[in-house]
Amino acid sequence: MKQGRFITVEGPDGAGKSTILNELYNKLVEEGRNVVKTREPGGVSIAEQIREVILNKENTAMDIRTEALLYAAARRQHLVEVVIPALEKGSIVICDRFIDSSLAYQGKGRDIGMTEVMNINQFAIEDKMPDLTLYFDITPEEGLKRIAGHDGREVNRLDLESLDFHQKVYEGYQSLIEQYPDRIKVVDASKSKEKVFTSAYDIVKRFIG
Ligand code: TMP
Repeated sequence: MKQGRFITVEGPDGAGKSTILNELYNKLVEEGRNVVKTREPGGVSIAEQIREVILNKENTAMDIRTEALLYAAARRQHLVEVVIPALEKGSIVICDRFIDSSLAYQGKGRDIGMTEVMNINQFAIEDKMPDLTLYFDITPEEGLKRIAGHDGREVNRLDLESLDFHQKVYEGYQSLIEQYPDRIKVVDASKSKEKVFTSAYDIVKRFIG
């Protein structure tokens, strides 16, 4: 059976990962590769509906475990509807965020605990981990400054959290990098867009050959 490659893109808010992901996608398509670009939470109708609920700024009453479960539910639906079928067709799937976001944001940022969040996510993913993860490294201060400063990006419920929350998310990512050194590759996202793209592309190219 053909088996594609599952690549995820991670980082704190404002790291610029979505822009680079689009450029990576275009470049790989230009090269004639079979690529699918998608995102979490969302990527399919049911998961996009869950995204609306999670990120709605009016949902201030949302319990942190509810939030973690909703992300896991969106993940499950997206995995089953998009990621797994594409991998079975031999595609390269590039996904904007996946389980590491839940581990960093809900596990560490919300203080639920990374192991607890991993456990509920195991139910959703059934061991389907990414083959490669690009981590766009930017400090929370710089990331939040970028969000506030430009690009018309809509501010969501999690962006409105304190710097302290985003600092914990950042620390969560740092411990994931230590835990999964073979899978997670770090890209310095504080550099110019061109440099960030080149580093990201080089890592992907080395991985897919
Ligand atoms: P985005 O802005 O990259 O589309 O992501 C939406 C927000 O959701 C972002 O603040 C990160 C957050 N998030 C989590 O907290 N946990 C998750 O599991 C995922 C996928 C995203």
